[in-house]
Amino acid sequence: TKCIAVITSGGDAQGMNAAVRAAVRMAIYNDARVFAVHEGYQGLVEGEDFIKEMTWSNFLIVLILKGGTIIGTARCQEFRAKEGRIKAAKNLVGRGISNLMVIGGDGSLTGANLFRREWTELLTILIERGEIPENSLIEYPVLNIVGLVGSIDNDFCGTKMTIGADSALHRILECANAIITTASSHRRTFVLEVMGRRCGYLALISGLAIGADWIFIPEVPPEDGWEERMCAQLKAARNVGNRLNIIVLAEGAVDIHGNAITAEQVKQILVKYAQQDTRITVLGHVQRGGSPSAFDRILGCRMGAEAVLSLLESTVDTTPFVIGLQGNDMIRVPLMECVEKTRNLAKAMDEHNFEAALDLRNFGNTLSIFKGCNYYS
Ligand code: F6P
Repeated sequence: TKCIAVITSGGDAQGMNAAVRAAVRMAIYNDARVFAVHEGYQGLVEGEDFIKEMTWSNFLIVLILKGGTIIGTARCQEFRAKEGRIKAAKNLVGRGISNLMVIGGDGSLTGANLFRREWTELLTILIERGEIPENSLIEYPVLNIVGLVGSIDNDFCGTKMTIGADSALHRILECANAIITTASSHRRTFVLEVMGRRCGYLALISGLAIGADWIFIPEVPPEDGWEERMCAQLKAARNVGNRLNIIVLAEGAVDIHGNAITAEQVKQILVKYAQQDTRITVLGHVQRGGSPSAFDRILGCRMGAEAVLSLLESTVDTTPFVIGLQGNDMIRVPLMECVEKTRNLAKAMDEHNFEAALDLRNFGNTLSIFKGCNYYS
């Protein structure tokens, strides 16, 4: 019987519970044993009660409705050190587990891959110390891993959508709807700051869905002189009868020189050069909270189930995969390919090679649609 451990790591995202539930049930349905690791990699290092065997009824239907991750998540320093990973290996082997499903972001999946590469070395150390049986390497020659990307940012190369991004968009739209009525009443301009780290996905897509007058996203920094262009654009919108303006600012927005563009800076410019009564709303963690959207529940279920199937099919020669969405299909993409592309993207951003960064993003044609629908030029 194969034993699988499931772990959620890094920032939480709506839809993670659906993924864990599907994984647990798919594993049991296929006669495998499945364990939930609580509190992310911290739980893997601690062992004891942090690693619990799951049953069919552990994940009742109501859990699908909940955001966050009920098995907990943490950013763990100890797992970054080798001694931490030795402890984690011992905790897995002690329970007969050599299959690991990780739901997390880029960092969590890279960590899992390092753990997998070191597996033989870690087990050898444990055998030498007499902490696990001598035949452990014969019984558990490899650690099979599979990754699922849970992040509201939709910033991972290898899947068109990450678990949580759609729910975050729903939350942003709910908040924007609330802002728009007060903005209109007072004929105000609002700068809405949305999350996403260095990825502009949430800002671009919500900007399009709201009909924002202007957006700032890290991958398409505004050329010098943007201040005048933005003011002219907003004034033009008022001249045709709009009572309000909405600007969506990605938290990681920069100008072409790589300098951060802040909400306060945008506000000052609007007050000074466009004489607009302007307010700032930073949406923050509400974007990561609340009930997952239908899309994220189904995406979580499909990815969780596919991840377990890939572990059940894996042999000693199987390369680690990330489960991705392409079109309407679940695909298995080599983990290292995804991690490398995601690294190239970060490098392109660091070097201000914004075109290369944009090429690797999941924006499809939404950027040109946004321009066509929202900018007079
Ligand atoms: O990666 C998800 C995310 O919500 C980002 O959008 C945001 O920048 C960051 O996490 C916030 O991190 P924390 O929850 O640690 O404040």
